[in-house]
Amino acid sequence: MSLRDEIINDPEYGNKAEAFEAFDDIPTNPNLGNTIGDVINRRYGRREVLRGILGVSATTALFGTSAMIAPQQAAAKTAADSRYIFDELAWGNDETHHITEGYDLKVLLRWGDPITADAPAFDVMNQTPEAQLQQFGYNNDYVGFAPLNADGTRGMLCVNHEYTNEEVMFPGLGRQDRAGFEDMTKEIVDIEMAAHGGTVVEIEQVDGEWNVVLDGPNNRRITPLNTEMTFSGPAAGHDRLKTNDDATGMSVMGTINNCAGGMTPWGTYLMAEENFHGYFWSDVLDAEGKVDVSAQAEAKQMKRYGVPGRWYAWGKYYDRFNIDKEPNMPNKYGWIVEVDPTDPTALPVKHTAMGRFRHEGAETTVSTDGHVVVYSGDDNRFDYQYKFVSKGTVTGDKSRDMGLLSDGTLYVARFEDDGVINWLPLIHGEGPLTAANGFNDQGDVMIDTRLAADLLGATPMDRPEDAQPRGDGTAYIMLTNNTRRKADQVNAANPRPESSFGHIIEIKEAGGDHAATTGTWSILVKCGDPTLADVGAQWNPETSENGWFGSPDNCAIDTDGRLWISTDQGSGWAKTGKSDGLYALETEGDLRGHSKLFFRCPVGGELCGPYFTDDSETLFLAVQHPGTDGTKNFVGFERNSTFEDPATRWPDFDPAMPPRPSVLVVTKQGGGKIAV
Ligand code: FEO
Ligand code: CA
Repeated sequence: MSLRDEIINDPEYGNKAEAFEAFDDIPTNPNLGNTIGDVINRRYGRREVLRGILGVSATTALFGTSAMIAPQQAAAKTAADSRYIFDELAWGNDETHHITEGYDLKVLLRWGDPITADAPAFDVMNQTPEAQLQQFGYNNDYVGFAPLNADGTRGMLCVNHEYTNEEVMFPGLGRQDRAGFEDMTKEIVDIEMAAHGGTVVEIEQVDGEWNVVLDGPNNRRITPLNTEMTFSGPAAGHDRLKTNDDATGMSVMGTINNCAGGMTPWGTYLMAEENFHGYFWSDVLDAEGKVDVSAQAEAKQMKRYGVPGRWYAWGKYYDRFNIDKEPNMPNKYGWIVEVDPTDPTALPVKHTAMGRFRHEGAETTVSTDGHVVVYSGDDNRFDYQYKFVSKGTVTGDKSRDMGLLSDGTLYVARFEDDGVINWLPLIHGEGPLTAANGFNDQGDVMIDTRLAADLLGATPMDRPEDAQPRGDGTAYIMLTNNTRRKADQVNAANPRPESSFGHIIEIKEAGGDHAATTGTWSILVKCGDPTLADVGAQWNPETSENGWFGSPDNCAIDTDGRLWISTDQGSGWAKTGKSDGLYALETEGDLRGHSKLFFRCPVGGELCGPYFTDDSETLFLAVQHPGTDGTKNFVGFERNSTFEDPATRWPDFDPAMPPRPSVLVVTKQGGGKIAV
């Protein structure tokens, strides 16, 4: 049995999503030499840096003067002094969601809900691709909002649809990856494709309540089935982007596996293409039944990117997802896509200057000098953290600013053991990024970002998920877990072997400038159950049994600069036993590292979003794959979900309806900022 088949048939991986992520247990980074032999007992952190490694003047330059105030000068704070004003929710697992008291919560959009005035009503037993193209897609992940009026009560909601779970979407199918995709007809594949991508839909708040505006003129679905896109930047038009249906290397049909994303200062929507490798197919197998790419011209690149994953049957019906017929097609995915949510006729653009990898997200900020800076992690075990700095500066003229992501410098992070971070530029002709190493031009460097970063000696991380910058030159990096890191592979920035709980790194860019090429880093929190010996008391002592979490994934910063974390801890290796949720996490002072629970998901759901409107009076949350992920780990739910027998039927609780991924909108009763 091939390794792939072992994974998808392993009962440990109870649903398709878990099996997919288990593929990430197979590191594709062959270049771990810079961590092997590096050591365990190295010191890390901001205090060590403050004490001795850097001089006072350097420290002041890096942190600003406020960092020099010793924490012991302040009176010790307790949980009652939390900057987040709400009563902590009790943790637990059950069939529905829970939110702390004092908040209104509305299910705003569910899989299948119409997003245009002429969309058909959802008929789950008779779904069609045509209907799905006008309805809200599956597995909502990133949520963003582009206001259309000055008070922000009307705007475009932008939502990514990351992937599909056929076992709970379609009657009678079960796990098709285990069944060899035998029952995957073209019609089912087309529905899956139409349920991927993104949704752009107008919403409006009237008398405090948010509603979908079905006749919004900009409403549209973006899908891998029928949304044409173009390219910008160094790899646009590159020979390695040319395919049988596109001699220009400038065109591609659609976007896939859109995980997190971001909103730009000029009001556009960035969609990150994450696990694109899983959608490609090949019939060329070795003697053990394992995909064999050795005859491919780009075998080295395919192996480094994990192409083809054969997670979906799309390549059986579409040549563009079959590398035996279209070997260059994988090079057209793995990018950041920019969408104008107020121009439904505009072609989305894949920006090749921001690199090609399994982009988790694309959160944006502006540097001291006005350059746009985008942080993006490569979510694979032992892969890297990146940021992009535009060449031009933000002007406030949207039509000009939409060109900013086409030209700039992509950097990869090296987390030094002494608490310094160095951002290494990926520039053709500099250092090892030359023709002698296979990089003939900047297009090659961007198409093969991972291989270029390998040569630069970037730090292999514990699965970089979301990265969130804050305006003061701070950024937070979610490292969700990495159970494959051995004791001799730990480094200061990834200090735990076999980490099933993950950790969060705080970066302080030099001079508070997000465009800086150096700064400092420290670990904000090592996640996990504080009562376990291998976790220890990593949390702020005020953190309760409700407040700790594992597997940080998405995050957001509200208008008061406070950090919020959503989790993906339901799956087998997280072993927290907790449903996923939204946690408020202190970053400053005596309560630094204190967290508390605000919202939790129905069983088997992962929490995505979160997104605060500019006034922080509305919070959008996305519950992804309810009823599937990790349900077998929870008492009372020890089974894998199917369409016929799901672990929950949230949010409808209709015996004829399977669970539906949904976007929720949260407001404070009586109005006002969330948690203030
Ligand atoms: Fe799609 Fe890395 O989460
Ligand atoms: Ca994620």
